[in-house]
Amino acid sequence: MYWLASHLCAIALRRAASAGCCITSRSSDAAEARMPSLPFSKDLRFDAPAQRCRVIVTKRMNMFNHFDILAPVYEWVISPPDPTRLKTLLRLPTDGWLLDAGGGTGRVAATLRPFVGGLVVGDQSLRMLRRAYEKRTLHPVRAQVQRLPFVDGFFSRILVVDALHHFSDQSAAVRELARVLAPGGRLVIEEPDIHRPAVKLVALAERMALMGSTFLAPEVVRDMLAAQGLRACIVERDRFSAWIVADKPSGGSQ
Ligand SMILES: C[S@@+](CC[C@H](N)C(=O)[O-])C[C@H]1O[C@@H](n2cnc3c(N)ncnc32)[C@H](O)[C@@H]1O
Repeated sequence: MYWLASHLCAIALRRAASAGCCITSRSSDAAEARMPSLPFSKDLRFDAPAQRCRVIVTKRMNMFNHFDILAPVYEWVISPPDPTRLKTLLRLPTDGWLLDAGGGTGRVAATLRPFVGGLVVGDQSLRMLRRAYEKRTLHPVRAQVQRLPFVDGFFSRILVVDALHHFSDQSAAVRELARVLAPGGRLVIEEPDIHRPAVKLVALAERMALMGSTFLAPEVVRDMLAAQGLRACIVERDRFSAWIVADKPSGGSQ
């Protein structure tokens, strides 16, 4: 009861803080997504039951996951965003593939699908990914961001929305994101800005809900990306979130 109340409190705080965000329709392309011929790395293991629901599973992850419980109500509580800002920051359209890391139900990914060649939603929560699968145009892959099952440099764009603070090992996650980003590619991170009072309240509520979140200041995130050889800067802030953009140089290894 205490746990559920803390969760609802965290979600209500978020909703209040982001009130004013526009709601847009999702991709109208209802064609069923085919299984992707993605260049997975060799250690990929498939999970038969999950394959039947066409969510690709990279390894068994049976630990308790808050988002498995929140999945049925997630998009009912948090609406899809207006894709305009992310489209600009990600420099879309592109023919390349986009990875939405910690992409959950595909809430954000669905709005960007018309502007990319292919779209992978990577997440550790199978129940969140089932919602992404139901959208039919996304490729859900179950994986932890700190150990992605993709070959180096595959994605021309990567997006992380409201998820970095949930990753258990943020340094490893950033390293992996830099690894799978293509030379000349762009990574955009949208993250609650811990400098803002509303985000401090959300952080408190998530701590009470035992979610294990760690909110890093946008400057820290920028420096972590720069340490991976990316050209990173904080491009926008509002009263709740900060947007950090990082480009991978086309010439170098990273
Ligand atoms: C607040 S939700 C955001 C989902 C989506 N980005 C959105 O904005 O709708 C955070 C997501 O991160 C996922 N997540 C947390 N830790 C993860 C990890 N280590 N690897 C992959 N996904 C993770 C959760 O399962 C959850 O779906």
